[in-house]
Amino acid sequence: MANAAASVSAGSGGITRREFLYYIWGASIALVAAQSAGLLVWFLIPKFREGEFGGKFPVSLDSLPPDPNSEPVNFADGRFWLVNLDTTQSNALMYQAEDESQPIKGVAAIYKVCTHLGCIYSWTPANDRFECPCHGSKYRLDGRRIESPAPRSLDRFKLEALAEDGTVLAESSLVNDVYQPLELPDGTFSLSVDTGDRKKGNSLPLLCSFTGSCP
Ligand code: FES
Repeated sequence: MANAAASVSAGSGGITRREFLYYIWGASIALVAAQSAGLLVWFLIPKFREGEFGGKFPVSLDSLPPDPNSEPVNFADGRFWLVNLDTTQSNALMYQAEDESQPIKGVAAIYKVCTHLGCIYSWTPANDRFECPCHGSKYRLDGRRIESPAPRSLDRFKLEALAEDGTVLAESSLVNDVYQPLELPDGTFSLSVDTGDRKKGNSLPLLCSFTGSCP
């Protein structure tokens, strides 16, 4: 009687309760696997489109500051400044300070938000530096702190130098978890600024030599 309840005879085309449980178990496994695959695809799909803050911004070479150590170029949509640096050709805007052991050379994308409390600072041509209107922090062309209360230099985004076919020729390197200016290799056709990949600015001492206030 019990066997009759647990199964339907093969001849009648039914399935046993054990088989039925196997099918349920298999279906559950398949469902979990499908959900996991869906989640994986969701994570792999970029969350931001190109040209949207949080995503990558294409930049043509003729959009860069034309000369090394010339005034920065404002990319409002991407919320960054592009700067072209070379302390081997020092001028009033950019030079190699005593505590900087290596020349600073290359292109950098600097986040437009002050590292103190998040105000939007701007470039002040009359003083050759970035200045924050909220509490007076100042930064050199490369983003290094000149005056506090900013706790660190300005943050930077990751850059890629691209060939004409889109191949990545070089990308920003990290030193002490700070993105370094990128020297553009031969064959660079354009740049890509990844506003989804930002690193904090350095915590070097205030740049007193800029204002001539060193002790
Ligand atoms: S937010 Fe810029 S100095 Fe305070």
